Amino acid sequence: KTPRWEARADLVVIGSGVAGLTAALRAQELGLHVLVVTKAAVADGNTRWAQGGVAVVLDGDHDRGDTVAKHAEDTLVAGAGLCDEDAVRAILAGGPAAVGKLRASGATFDGGPGGLSRTREGGHSAFRVIHAGGDATGAEVERALVAQVTDRRLPVLEHHIAVDALCTPAGDVAGVAVLDHHGVPGVVRASAVVLASGGFGQLYQATSNPEQATGDGLALALRAGATVADIEFVQFHPTVLYTPGARGRCPLVTEAVRGEGATLVDGAGASVMAGAHPLGDLAPRDVVSAAITRRMALAPGGVDDHVFLDATGISGFAKRFPTVHAACAELGIDPAVDSIPVTPAAHFACGGVVTTVDGRSTVRGLYAAGEVARTGLHGANRLASNSLLEGLVVGQRVAEAVAADLAAGLLPDPARGRLPRRRSAPVAGRDALQRVMSRYAAIGRDADGLAAAGSVLDLSTQDSPLQTHAAVEDAALTVVAQALLTAAVGRAESRGCHVRNDFPDRDERDGPRSRLVRLSPSGQ
Ligand code: SIN
Repeated sequence: KTPRWEARADLVVIGSGVAGLTAALRAQELGLHVLVVTKAAVADGNTRWAQGGVAVVLDGDHDRGDTVAKHAEDTLVAGAGLCDEDAVRAILAGGPAAVGKLRASGATFDGGPGGLSRTREGGHSAFRVIHAGGDATGAEVERALVAQVTDRRLPVLEHHIAVDALCTPAGDVAGVAVLDHHGVPGVVRASAVVLASGGFGQLYQATSNPEQATGDGLALALRAGATVADIEFVQFHPTVLYTPGARGRCPLVTEAVRGEGATLVDGAGASVMAGAHPLGDLAPRDVVSAAITRRMALAPGGVDDHVFLDATGISGFAKRFPTVHAACAELGIDPAVDSIPVTPAAHFACGGVVTTVDGRSTVRGLYAAGEVARTGLHGANRLASNSLLEGLVVGQRVAEAVAADLAAGLLPDPARGRLPRRRSAPVAGRDALQRVMSRYAAIGRDADGLAAAGSVLDLSTQDSPLQTHAAVEDAALTVVAQALLTAAVGRAESRGCHVRNDFPDRDERDGPRSRLVRLSPSGQ
């Protein structure tokens, strides 16, 4: 549809979570005219649901025997050979400054007389995860960032959804097409676009992600010709609260509960993780989720849909984990005396838009930060609590990269951005999409299932005009599902979060490789 309104900025940031707001605030500090476009209210989105914390080695931690090098080593082990080592070291080394800046701006982390409190999560060899409000770290990070946005009157278009990139004849990105809160189309012309739109947990029936996590930024990047990688690696969090027949966002039960001593047991009370990994209940997330899935499949009398987390040994549970405690209380569960029913659920996209550690994508004018990006920090399986850190560090760096590229005259002229010629996009029904992805492309995949998923998707896909927020989201999920299936079919091995029942081992013949995915030039 013809745009009915137009806005201009040096930089438009898509998304208002930790990466997006950090980037927007830093770019404003650098003197750029910034506009944030976000499809819900500014504080909505995935960041505020993060529980466990921010994994970071602060300067004083060296006295306690922890180092950035050890954090990097844990990240590389979890990433199962697919991390980019330089990116890992650069991002983790930026942690203390990024966290320091956030704290200076008013974010408060839990502490005691000896300084900040630290917990441990799966795959970490040390207690290095700082947290806020017990288990409400994301909420505090988001609160502090939104407070600065308000104080500094940083312009935010709430309830506006980005549909497509505006591309120049040379293929550079120079702004975005947007639907406003009434579905009225408009354009935001800008020299640079930073995607910070999060992940795509809504591709699955059970997810820890809120309803906003529909892969819009990833789809936009694919249609703009950007290279995407590692999207077959969808991390399933081992423990969301099990609620029979639940749909939509499932409450998380943070890994920090296991960090503080809780253990996973099956319906008969037997340990799930004993003998499965040297780190037991604190093994990396992919290992724990796969072990739970196997145990559920072996349940006497058929497949079970949950196991239990025994946290009865943790004293003061309600105070340490108020968010989890409240979610349990709604189901009549008291973690002080009852085991908590838990099940794995889609949680985090380890891959995404291929970027440098400064957020530069393969397309001029297009940048990405946070979950939508693939910097090489996560590889085949993200280490717990590395993502808030990545959002803080790369959020700063991407703003600095945009400012530098703009000053160097490297960015396209916003006046040259054009809407794509296509009037519609393939859209599959949300229910069919979630059902087929949960059945065939979750934990435990095989060639037949992935092929079946592709066929069902093809059959349930129709060309539709992108005239409503729901159509834009469904189109995004459809293109992401197709790209994910292509990547998953092509990876004939099990690695990290990508578990192939028909190829149970890693294939080390040519060394581990990321799978790069690009759409054909027609955008289909
Ligand atoms: C958790 O608290 O278990 C989630 C943290 C994360 O996903 O990094």
